[in-house]
Amino acid sequence: MIKTRSIWISAASMSCIAISASHAFAQTARAPFIVPAWAFPTAPAASPAQKPDSVVLHRVPNAAREYTMRQVGNAFDIPDWFPPSHPQMPAPVQYGTRPNARACGFCHLPDGQGRPENGTLAGLPSEYIVKQVRAFRDSTRLAANPASKTNSMHLVATSTSDADVSIAAEYFSKLKLTRRNIVREVTQVPRTKIEVMLYAYDGAGTEPIDGRLIEVPETFERHELRDPTVVYTTFVPIGSIARGRRLATNGPNTPATACATCHGPQLLGKDAVPPIAGRSPSNLLRQLMNFRTGARHDSLSITMAPVVEKLTERDMVSLAAYVGSRPPSVSVVAKQKKGR
Ligand code: HEC
Ligand code: HEC
Repeated sequence: MIKTRSIWISAASMSCIAISASHAFAQTARAPFIVPAWAFPTAPAASPAQKPDSVVLHRVPNAAREYTMRQVGNAFDIPDWFPPSHPQMPAPVQYGTRPNARACGFCHLPDGQGRPENGTLAGLPSEYIVKQVRAFRDSTRLAANPASKTNSMHLVATSTSDADVSIAAEYFSKLKLTRRNIVREVTQVPRTKIEVMLYAYDGAGTEPIDGRLIEVPETFERHELRDPTVVYTTFVPIGSIARGRRLATNGPNTPATACATCHGPQLLGKDAVPPIAGRSPSNLLRQLMNFRTGARHDSLSITMAPVVEKLTERDMVSLAAYVGSRPPSVSVVAKQKKGR
């Protein structure tokens, strides 16, 4: 049984979900939305926890460095496969502070490209980064699926000093998102299994895509080695990108909700509104669901409320597929034009 179809009913529409008082969020007038479990892949904890190996040296393609799994898993002196790909990391990004303020670069990677389960920081406005960390800290930014391990930002946010968050925000805001996602429209998706917080290929064979959006790294091993150059492919139903483009351009609600109104003509961000083009589609999808259910309800998120209030699961899959397939930065757009 691969396709678990268990569901969480959004807390905005039902009050029976066990959320502690500090994690409860405001009731909203949004139409009920059923959060699909498949959008928040979460594997059960491995038992018993294995000590990472400290002998065997691993490599990733085109990198000169070698690390053991123990070094790769060190959140207080993080692996850095490609030092020339980014400026020197400030201490909160490279080392963090024990015991709980893990280094930002451990999860979001030294060049800020991030991983699907945590997201890109490269090129986000610095004030936006600071604001989001504050929202994680005061629990006005949660995940639509309360069981999701994406809630791990809460501990980092409550353990990192404001000064360190500002330093990290400044660093990441100057970097550029360069990764280009591959988005593929299919009727059949390769078989996958859930590893930690992500889908990974599971041998041969396919199964129906069945309305889902499934993002998979080339190899799970390279993802686990925190290789910032591993390519992720996102599988979506046929027609998703064109449908997403229509919704994005016309606005899913009123014309004022067209994505470019606030996120800029190429969806590369405008003032404090974050860029969304070319980012991980599965992450974009979860954010839309987080807004849709009210799990994200910090002060700025109110701007997204009219955008998401009528979105269906299919709308969100289409929007995430379209937005994720757009070129992620001006330089990439320029390069593509030149190359033509
Ligand atoms: C243990 C892993 C981990 C570490 C370390 C970590 N993060 Fe995160 N971060 C996450 C996860 C997971 C999410 C996604 C949460 C969600 O969307 O619900 C996230 C999301 C974010 C976001 C939201 C991005 C967006 O597009 O909205 C920001 C900003 C952020 N982190 C900043 C930081 C900063 C700054 C640091 C260092 C002080 C840091 N993170 C350290 C795991 C981590
Ligand atoms: C009226 C202005 C406005 C419109 C229109 C708008 N957005 Fe947003 N969007 C925002 C703001 C402001 C934020 C930051 C919210 C916050 O800080 O919580 C945001 C955040 C987001 C995020 C989260 C990014 C992250 O880093 O986590 C996504 C995804 C997103 N918008 C997608 C869309 C899509 C897709 C559309 C079009 C269908 C759209 N937005 C239309 C204002 C807008």
